[in-house]
Amino acid sequence: MNDGVIHPVPETWAKEALIDAGTYAEKYRRSVQDPEGFWREEARRLDWLKPFTTVKNTSFDEATFGIRWFEDGTLNLTANCLDRHLAARGDQTAIIWEPDDPATPVRTLTYRQLHEATCRFANLLRAEGVRKGDRVTIYLPMVPEAAVAMLACARIGAIHSIVFAGFSPEALGSRIEDCDSDVVITADEGLRGGKRVPLKANVDAALEHHGKVRRVIMLRHTGADVPMIEGRDLDWATAVASQSTDCPAEEMGAEDPLFILYTSGSTGKPKGVLHTTGGYAVWVGMTHEYTFDYRPHPDSTPQVYWCAADIGWVTGHSYVVYGPLLNGAISVMFEGVPNYPDFSRFWQVVDKHKVEIFYAAPTALRALMREGDDWVKKTSRSTLRLLGSVGEPINPEAWEWYYNVVGDARCPIVDTWWQTETGGHMITPLPGATDLKPGSASKPMFGVQPAILDSEGKELHGACEGALVISDSWPGQMRTVYGDHARFFQTYFSTFPGHYFTGDGCRRDEDGYYWITGRIDDVINVSGHRMGTAEIESALVLHERVAEAAVVGMPHDIKGQGIYAYVTTTSGTEDSDDLRKELIQWVRREIGPIATPDVLQFAPSLPKTRSGKIMRRILRKIAENDTGNLGDTSTLADPGVVDDLLANRPKT
Ligand code: PRX
Repeated sequence: MNDGVIHPVPETWAKEALIDAGTYAEKYRRSVQDPEGFWREEARRLDWLKPFTTVKNTSFDEATFGIRWFEDGTLNLTANCLDRHLAARGDQTAIIWEPDDPATPVRTLTYRQLHEATCRFANLLRAEGVRKGDRVTIYLPMVPEAAVAMLACARIGAIHSIVFAGFSPEALGSRIEDCDSDVVITADEGLRGGKRVPLKANVDAALEHHGKVRRVIMLRHTGADVPMIEGRDLDWATAVASQSTDCPAEEMGAEDPLFILYTSGSTGKPKGVLHTTGGYAVWVGMTHEYTFDYRPHPDSTPQVYWCAADIGWVTGHSYVVYGPLLNGAISVMFEGVPNYPDFSRFWQVVDKHKVEIFYAAPTALRALMREGDDWVKKTSRSTLRLLGSVGEPINPEAWEWYYNVVGDARCPIVDTWWQTETGGHMITPLPGATDLKPGSASKPMFGVQPAILDSEGKELHGACEGALVISDSWPGQMRTVYGDHARFFQTYFSTFPGHYFTGDGCRRDEDGYYWITGRIDDVINVSGHRMGTAEIESALVLHERVAEAAVVGMPHDIKGQGIYAYVTTTSGTEDSDDLRKELIQWVRREIGPIATPDVLQFAPSLPKTRSGKIMRRILRKIAENDTGNLGDTSTLADPGVVDDLLANRPKT
């Protein structure tokens, strides 16, 4: 890695940003030495209904395990995202919606309009019998109503569970079932890159086999003719028409749940990551402000901020909706994709809406970089002042392209490392404080205490490489796995007792900069989307011709990692190209297009130890084409298996 390259903080940033290097050092020191005092002050960014007296009550140890922040305070998150802005900026834009097709009219919602829409929809949910603590599943495209649906749940204390609109009926159904939600909010269709996504049909299919859903509320988005089920389905617009725009906000305890978001782990089915209200709000409000230096211009006009993530992922929750709205921002919401109608789309949107802060995933940048600089250079981008990266390691080459070509060597890049579980940014540069090293997420956010451990759990000091853990709690931390608290402890706190284990490997250099090296568990990161290899294996073995499957990651130029599947078919099956295609389609249907295997290799048998454990290390090496260095294969039950795998590696 090119430790040598450093882009120092530009002078104007050091002078004008909210946080400069000195302030960072001082605030960081205080945040870890006096967390009570630090967080008591930071929590003032929220309007509390009943002020908290206890700040932090947390323990990562088995005997006393528990994570509670501001636990006796009460608040409502939508009162903080909406109501309190009405007096000063009710007529300011809250959301700019940029549609998939640039010819479709843009929609904007002011804070007042968003408040009204939220209250109406919240009243509808209440009228439909949804109460505090009930789970509501949201399966919507990137339209302003997605934010409205989230906020409406938060208004009345219902727990939203958003399922990414690219997931299959099967994946949707199992998530509906797991959190036992009986209301689903969807649209007729989604639109992405000119293609229609049959959302309502997917919901209908999901509900045939899963869950006990009594109500489906459907937004008409494309106007497609879709069947409605009498007695179960409601049309959004018709149903809200009679609802009042006045909806008292439910008083929520700081530790009352806000949302569930399913994410993949190294074993079993996806986990319902549960976030609560108070700590999460402090965390996303604070990190959105400091990381993006988000504040009004000196003439008090707001900055235009665009996070290009989908609300189906945590980045959309924290940095399209909750963080920006807490800070009274203008948040751009983009329905489309970076390459439609052409490869200039991102930068045209930047120019169209005068975007100042732009936040996206490296996979999109790598895909655009491949198409050449002209697509970028023919746009102005003169309003941009800050760039952000999220979701996967950004390779230095993509970093430099983002910096030089997109940002014209003018805009700092914040490479933000965090996870669904962490709620918000954990390790990131602050643009006025941190000299940038391309490819490094750099330094911890306030209150974050990273440590690097060796495989025995011993903490390493100075420059080192090992497993990344966080040694104390922070307010935005997940509180449990929905319905399975034991799994929460087991997954994150049992590997290295007393620490939160991130699942990531990490290197720390001599300047104390953190360099995330990627997952060290059986999770892969495909285009910034997290997939459990076990999930894909389970989908494959559901096919009647599959006896066994093993899935590993492989390097991929654009996606970061691709999916490499080894499949052993049932005896008597002919391993044909047609079957290969069928199995690839099968996984797409079972999970969704994001899980499509890039390579599928038929394997008469898999390399196993004598006790029957698959040696994934070898499968990874073959997938990486690192075949000269397979390591010790002497413990294999049948070493000949490896030769066969090597001989039959498909061309990639
Ligand atoms: O491996 C890390 C990678 O993405 C994982 C978290 O994925 P998810 O929960 O889907 O959240 C994505 C949005 C935050 C991490 O364990 N990751 C995320 N951001 C970075 C990253 N790896 C390197 N650098 C980053 N900036």
